[in-house]
Formats: sequence, C-alpha cells, structure tokens
Amino acid sequence: MQSDFNTLNLLLDLKILQPQILHAEQINSTNTYFLQNRSHPNGTVLLADYQTGGKGRHGRVWHSPPEQALLFSVLLTELYNRAFLHVYTFLAAVAVYEGLELLGRGAFKLDLKWPNDVLLEGRKLCGILVQNRLVGNEMSQIVIGTGINVNQPANFFIGELSQGTSLNAVLGKSMDRIEVLKQVLVALDRWLFILGDSGETAIFNRWKAICSSIGKKVLVNDGQQIYAGTFKDLSNQGGLVLETEDRCRVFYAADVTLAKETSYVGCD
Ligand code: BTN
Repeated sequence: MQSDFNTLNLLLDLKILQPQILHAEQINSTNTYFLQNRSHPNGTVLLADYQTGGKGRHGRVWHSPPEQALLFSVLLTELYNRAFLHVYTFLAAVAVYEGLELLGRGAFKLDLKWPNDVLLEGRKLCGILVQNRLVGNEMSQIVIGTGINVNQPANFFIGELSQGTSLNAVLGKSMDRIEVLKQVLVALDRWLFILGDSGETAIFNRWKAICSSIGKKVLVNDGQQIYAGTFKDLSNQGGLVLETEDRCRVFYAADVTLAKETSYVGCD
C-alpha cells in the first residue's frame, strides 16, 4: 500500500503513545496499513482525512466523507496480554467516552454499547475495530482503529445510516477534529498505562460504571436467536453475561438493544 504521511506533533504529555503522529490525507484503511507495515514503534498513531477502504466490524465497510470524521488507528507491539484481544476494545471505548466527556462538559449525553460502540444521545457516534496480527498462535501486534463522527451534518444520517450521529448533528456546530483527537489520545494513553500497570479489571470496572444498560432488561440477538434477559455483568473475558429466566448465558458476539424501547437504542 503506497502512502504519504506528514507528521504532526500534538504536544501532548504521553506515556505510551508516540508524541509525533502520522497523518495521511488519504489511505485505504488506517487499520490495514498497520497490519501490513511492521516498521513503526509501539504506540504509533495514524490519522487519516479519508479512507478509500475503511473497515468496520463483521467485514463491513466504514465510510466517511473526506475531512469530516476522526479516523485513526493506534499500533501496539508491546502487549499487556498476548491472548486477550477484547480488552483493547473496552479500553478504547472508555477512552473515547472520557475524552469526549471532557470536551463536552455535560453538553451532551454519551453512553457505551456492548461491545464496541460509543453512543451520543442514543445513536452511534463512534465505532471501534480492534485487529491483531498473529505469529504462530500468539498476537504479535494489535491495531486499535477508531472512527468518530465529528462534522457530518445531520442530513448525512439517513437511510441505512439513520442510526448514526455526529457531534455536529447534535451540537449544531462543527468542531476542530484535532482538538477532539487530542482529548481522546490523552485518555487512551492513560488507559493503556493503567492496563499495563493494573491489568484489565480496572478497564472492565470503568466500562461497567459508564454503560447504562448494565442491570437493565435487554434483548440479545446472536444471529440465530433473540434472548431476553438482564444484562448482569461482563465476564472476565469481556463477554456479555445475560441472566435469562432459566440460566445465565455469556455472549461474545451479538447485538444488544434495550428490551422496553420500541425505538432505536443503539446499533452495530
Ligand atoms: C464498527 O464497525 O463499528 C467499527 C468501525 C471502525 C472504523 C475505524 S475508522 C479508523 C480505522 N480504520 C479502519 O479501516 N477502520 C477503523
């Protein structure tokens, strides 16, 4: 993949992430770039203005018009745990939530949706795609890809995008994407440090404290069947623990909606 980068120094005080970030005006996918290029140090951040082949979960395409969303990936080569990918998704979701909370100062309502979305006023604001490269059976590197909808206008979210939103669509004003990025990177750096220092429990606890559907009645669709129950907890691998009438079930890939709501509460 041919790519031209600028470097940006965001002048942040970071412990894990590299202070100089890579910036591409256009790239296929920031995640794919890191999975195919081994030459960058741990904690390198790659930001793109536009992706021609942005990747979403479950093989979907992640499309954003040029210069409107915050599209970036973080490369990790020094891994806290070489077997356990899920924790990085929760870590990134918590970091995006906290970074945006600080920026918004209560002006909007954020939430987390299991397993990897950040919601704004109940609609999908941010998607996270964590991918890894294996050497043998072990992960040798992880890429945390994050797409945050910043400046798309409200009328962008129609048709199949109607369950999404952006900061602009909710606040009615455009925002400086780099200012948003700075807040999110500071939070990401802090949580990466906490992961290395204290392990994943701190991340799971913070995620659970934020996610408003914990303890609530939800519907879980695993693609085969819809289960109704209470979202009790996260398993120690990050699975959704659902208490149904007869027993507890743990899901690792599924779509969750609040049971009582008839309208949209989140999307994948
Ligand atoms: C999802 O499906 O919810 C996850 C979307 C993740 C999109 C981001 S944008 C930056 C990074 N590069 C990619 O190709 N995908 C992720």
